[in-house]
Amino acid sequence: MKKIAVLVSGGGTNLQALIDAEARGEIKNGKISLVLASNDQAYALKRAENHNIPSVVVSKKECANEEEFAEKLLNAFKEHNIDVIVLAGYLSIIPKAVVEKYPHRILNIHPSLIPSFCGGGYYGLKVHEAALAKGVKVTGATVHFVNEIYDDGEIIIQKAVLVKEGDTPEILQKRVMEEAEWKILPQAVSLVCEDRVEVKNNITIIKEN
Ligand code: GRF
Repeated sequence: MKKIAVLVSGGGTNLQALIDAEARGEIKNGKISLVLASNDQAYALKRAENHNIPSVVVSKKECANEEEFAEKLLNAFKEHNIDVIVLAGYLSIIPKAVVEKYPHRILNIHPSLIPSFCGGGYYGLKVHEAALAKGVKVTGATVHFVNEIYDDGEIIIQKAVLVKEGDTPEILQKRVMEEAEWKILPQAVSLVCEDRVEVKNNITIIKEN
């Protein structure tokens, strides 16, 4: 059974989707064993407490430099024997030293169809504002592996969501979460825990059961 750390910065609805999927037996070969928050105000911490999941706060701001930040993260993962790391609305960049320790073992959820509306500056509502400003008719969400470049790692699962007339960034964000993020994140986490995601030439292949 792989031990999963979920990294959060805010409300934690994606964390909740993972907790609920685990309770339904849909995270095969994986158990959420740690919630790591970038700040102590994250409501996601309350969700962890409600489900008796150990949690820790590691604030990048309180670290003197990148090395110290990496060390704190790695220590927390080591202490809890973490195998798989899930960024679920986590707003800090993962240091290179951590990425190197967990090759193809760190996943991120992004609320657009990468490579649209991704990279530096595209987070939270900004992604949906940009999608509406461009007038795309279809958007969605992507779960991908994390490398040293923002939103650049290999794509694991994507799901499309229709944009509707009259959408505001908030309405679109909610639809993307409900129809895509909360579904594909648990699916991708399960596939990685089951060792079913193979990477060849920057492309993932999902192995049959
Ligand atoms: C989600 O839209 C996620 O895709 C993005 O940040 C948001 C986090 O929401 N990276 P929550 O904290 O999981 O509710």
